[in-house]
Amino acid sequence: MDGEYRVERVKSGIPGLDELVNGGFPKNTTILVTGSTGTGKTTFGAQFIYKGAAEYGEPGVFVTLEERAQDLRRETKTFGWDFRKYEEEGLIAIIDGVSSTVGLPSEEKFVLEDRLNVENFLRYIYRVVKAINARRLVIDSVPSIAFRLREEAQIREVLLKLNTILLEMGVTSILTTEAPDPKAGKISRYGIEEYISRGLILLDFRERDVELKRYLLIRKMRETKHSMRKYPFEITNNGIVVYPSGEMY
Ligand SMILES: Nc1ncnc2c1ncn2[C@@H]1O[C@H](COP(=O)(O)OP(=O)(O)OP(=O)(O)O)[C@@H](O)[C@H]1O
Ligand SMILES: [Mg+2]
Repeated sequence: MDGEYRVERVKSGIPGLDELVNGGFPKNTTILVTGSTGTGKTTFGAQFIYKGAAEYGEPGVFVTLEERAQDLRRETKTFGWDFRKYEEEGLIAIIDGVSSTVGLPSEEKFVLEDRLNVENFLRYIYRVVKAINARRLVIDSVPSIAFRLREEAQIREVLLKLNTILLEMGVTSILTTEAPDPKAGKISRYGIEEYISRGLILLDFRERDVELKRYLLIRKMRETKHSMRKYPFEITNNGIVVYPSGEMY
């Protein structure tokens, strides 16, 4: 098949990235962003949602399961992003999935009260997505949904259910997860996230002299011709920037 068959694309909002994936993520897909701690997963997801609203007018939902909504807003302010503004305009909804778990009161509009019950969790996200007519969704992170589920089979079932619901909602989603040991080929926490996602992006560091350099690798992107090169990226004062013609040493 030649290039005539066209897939609708969703802009990532990350400078330099779209040109590596034929103009954007395939619409309505689930992309897994994996990496060890501090590699930029939360920033990646936040940028996808923020730029989606600010630059493309596309409503987005950010489900935060690792830090409180207020912490996310504060941290992303350092990139010059004003989440509040777009929340007030109804273009962004942040679902706070942390406060109730740690027993703190929350003044958030969207609060996940019962994280223990996965059915409720999925139903609530569905409701918020419909409420703002979201085109984009981020869940940060998958391990924090699954961390109470001890049995592998149960985790598998939840992730499959999540995937079905994401497809049905008609959103383009980013799920973040941990990469326990990318160099040994272990790129997701449960090893099953990568099968339910149609795209997989690895964020990592590489040592150069005495400095760690960030790089990004597109491991999989269905319906997309992409290279398997490692591309340098930086977290700048304006967020993530990828350098498509940059060299990895
Ligand atoms: N304003 C900024 N300018 C430059 N770099 C920044 C800025 N803010 C954060 N960073 C970098 O981003 C890193 C954090 O990225 P982020 O929180 O997205 O990573 P993560 O993969 O989600 O980590 P975790 O495993 O802790 O969830 C920081 O360690 C820092 O190096
Ligand atoms: Mg994070």
